[in-house]
Amino acid sequence: LAQQRLLIKGGKVVNDDCSVVADVYVEDGVVQQVGPNLNPEPPTGLVVLDATNKLVIPGGIDTHTHMQFPFMGSRSKDDFYTGTKAAIAGGTTMIIDFAIPQKGCSLIEAFDRWKSWADPKVCCDYALHVAVTWWSNKVKEEMKSLVQNKGVNSFKMFMAYKDLYMVNDEELYAAFSCCKELGAVAQVHAENGELIAQGAKKMLAMGITGPEGHELCRPEDVEAEATQRAITIANAVNCPLFVVHVMSKSAARVISNARREGKVVYGEPIAASLGTDGTNYWNKDWAHAAAYVMGPPLRPDPSTPGFLMNLLANDDLSVTGTDNCTFDICQKALGKDDFTKIPNGVNGVEDRMSVIWEKGVVSISRCLNVEQNARISVILGVVLFCKHRTISAKTHHQANNFNIFEGMICHGVPVATVSKGKVVYEGGAFNVTAGEGKYVSRPPFPPYVYKRVRQREQV
Ligand code: URP
Ligand code: ZN
Ligand code: ZN
Repeated sequence: LAQQRLLIKGGKVVNDDCSVVADVYVEDGVVQQVGPNLNPEPPTGLVVLDATNKLVIPGGIDTHTHMQFPFMGSRSKDDFYTGTKAAIAGGTTMIIDFAIPQKGCSLIEAFDRWKSWADPKVCCDYALHVAVTWWSNKVKEEMKSLVQNKGVNSFKMFMAYKDLYMVNDEELYAAFSCCKELGAVAQVHAENGELIAQGAKKMLAMGITGPEGHELCRPEDVEAEATQRAITIANAVNCPLFVVHVMSKSAARVISNARREGKVVYGEPIAASLGTDGTNYWNKDWAHAAAYVMGPPLRPDPSTPGFLMNLLANDDLSVTGTDNCTFDICQKALGKDDFTKIPNGVNGVEDRMSVIWEKGVVSISRCLNVEQNARISVILGVVLFCKHRTISAKTHHQANNFNIFEGMICHGVPVATVSKGKVVYEGGAFNVTAGEGKYVSRPPFPPYVYKRVRQREQV
């Protein structure tokens, strides 16, 4: 109760349209007043945070995580407890994870399973995307029920992971049509799964078994082709499309061109694609190289992160996630003799805001893309931002023993994080308990997206 009234004093409050030095008064988790020299009454029971010389920005929303994900013969290391604690330390106050059913299995059961994992453990708020990994009338019915009864408004379709999660064009068409009917956003993992399977066989036959084979068997075209195909299919049914983990210049260009043609498509670069690159796959240390294995891969062209950041800054790309799906070195070693068996995934949930700040504001003087996150959802948290830190696996809160941003000096780091009006992190100390985060229902027909879909329909 003592934390229910909070005054953040003297920080520079960053909004979509402008920044202003002001106090922020929060009561019962809701911002009540923003202005100079606020003196809320009574003073007793008021928690005061001094934000002098700091930025006060909306809590981050990581649009893409995989906590405790059973995947590729293993389970990702960050669970909903360590992962969301790390998120808070990095200034993120909400994550959106993925419930992913096996082919032939129930989407609703997958949703319930993921929710039962998350609810007792989450330290920040969360929502769930659901994956469509096969197609039938039952899937269609379940999508409807998830949208109408469970607060799901986005579904991810995989164009890769052949024989595991991959769907074909006919299934994509059906799933996109259904999303459109229900007012959901279709998401795609855009890579040509057939070409990856063939390319991987070819690499292994040539004796290339190391992590570099992972990138060599799926060059940029493989990502760009699938991105173009998904956009074409989505446009045919006027369904809004969200391309997750945009990793290459080629795929980003495809999205940018489609947006210029008026298509309703959004691209999500991730902390990894903005903060590091695929040259790491050629590192002589196998463990180092394997730690960067994820799909689509990071690109060896070192100008990729800057290119993606420029597109993010000018709205060609729209939001940032992390695809946080951490595996430690022992788990990665499942693929020591065959790169196709290295569990795919990297860290980022704690690093994302600082990495974007470093690469997007400090390096090229662009505005942090906070407003995008605020626009697609309510602002759930507040972060006091300023300080510097060198990213390291030795000091991070993510559960794995490697950090793909190791050694990066960041000049924007959360000093305090506020969630629902409570200071949950301050000066390196946490004040959260497992299960304190809440599931956030997301409504169908989100206006930011569907306003454009309706306009296009009328035209
Ligand atoms: O390598 C990745 N991206 N792992 C997580 C699963 C996915 O495709 O998002
Ligand atoms: Zn994916
Ligand atoms: Zn993912």
